[in-house]
Amino acid sequence: PDAAEAMPSGDVAVSGVSLTEVAERFGTPSYVLDVQTVRYRCRAYRALDAEIAYAGKAFLCRRMARLIAEEGLSLDVCSGGELATAAAAGFPAERILLHGNAKTDLELRAAARAGVGRVVIDSVAEVDRLVGPQDVLVRVTPGIDGHTHRAVATGVEDQKFGSSLAGGQAAAVVARVLSRPELRLVGLHCHLGSQIAGVTGYEEAVRRLVAFLADIAVRHGVALPQLNLGGGHAVAYRPGDASFNLSGFAARIPRVLGFECRKHGLVPPRLTLEPGRAIVARAGVTLYRVVTVKHTSTRTYVAVDGGFSDNPRPELYDSRYTARLVGRAGDVQKRSMRVVGRHCEAGDVLIPDVQLPSDIRAGDLLAVPCTGAYHHSMASTYNLVPRPPVLAIDDGAVEAWIRRETEADLLHRDIA
Ligand code: LLP
Repeated sequence: PDAAEAMPSGDVAVSGVSLTEVAERFGTPSYVLDVQTVRYRCRAYRALDAEIAYAGKAFLCRRMARLIAEEGLSLDVCSGGELATAAAAGFPAERILLHGNAKTDLELRAAARAGVGRVVIDSVAEVDRLVGPQDVLVRVTPGIDGHTHRAVATGVEDQKFGSSLAGGQAAAVVARVLSRPELRLVGLHCHLGSQIAGVTGYEEAVRRLVAFLADIAVRHGVALPQLNLGGGHAVAYRPGDASFNLSGFAARIPRVLGFECRKHGLVPPRLTLEPGRAIVARAGVTLYRVVTVKHTSTRTYVAVDGGFSDNPRPELYDSRYTARLVGRAGDVQKRSMRVVGRHCEAGDVLIPDVQLPSDIRAGDLLAVPCTGAYHHSMASTYNLVPRPPVLAIDDGAVEAWIRRETEADLLHRDIA
């Protein structure tokens, strides 16, 4: 995490808590979450003149939902499970936005029952399935390339999310919503994709969406008060990686919004942002135990007690991480090694190439930073490997927010 301090012994501490002690007490693999870093990130976003809706898909549990509520953020949920978790945490329903390109009837009814503040409509067919009364936004595909991995690029044309601006589908959704008096259209939404470092894509999104707002004002005589620019703000997984320039965004986007609105004679709508990764990614670190070290003629393989099931991101998105030895100083001499997982797949490679002390051995602890977002939330039980716990460190104390899954948990769903 950002707050991790290296100690002279070679150990690493988060908020004064030694990761070696965490590993001894709670076992490995474990996800560790630095609560102060999460709060600090929430506050950095809250300082902007915008509504901030944390994207729960990055990481959600009841304690996290409560923290998000305390910090005054709204919450973006994209499934009945995320909605149920938020509700169980007592998250204020009026501050929840429901997303999804294939919301089921069950989820739409649950949202109506819970009193979810806003539903983000993905397509024209969804309009007639909504249960009113309900405030809604229309998700627009703006046709913008956020220059990110293709699996997480959602702003470009020809894909499953949203209704195309250029193709006129978005206008059809708006007309359909306005024809249903029990739905109140409060704004537009777009999401360009994930792990986007540049601000220019967002500027272009503002131009296109404001032009569309102007179009709606002329055609239907309504001024929509909200403009949701989604999330996608990049974080640095490794030192030197590009990350999102939040202050640059804050300086630029409201001005572009103001300018475009004046051009069209509109009152600027209130901005909503939906960061997920930028709130939690860097607050997380995964602790692994080295199980075995294998030297081959081509390289050294360091195999750990986790892998693809707790971090599928290297395999899915070619994501790159670093790792460091924790708990002892290790040989000053470092060598390039490959850190691999324990799963029955040759592709289960956590880090293809990383410099680690040459005397690394079985029993050592490895810490992989920047694993707070899309790690626990994307974990699986592949090979029937139980999922790691989420251990929150706050104020010098460790507390499990999510306990380790057990083999009994796995058998629980298995009907004999
Ligand atoms: N809003 C909407 C509508 C989204 O679909 C997403 C992410 C976000 C906000 C938050 O995006 P963020 O700020 O976290 O980038 N599993 C992938 C990421 C997929 C994100 C999908 N939608 C990963 O591990 O990188």
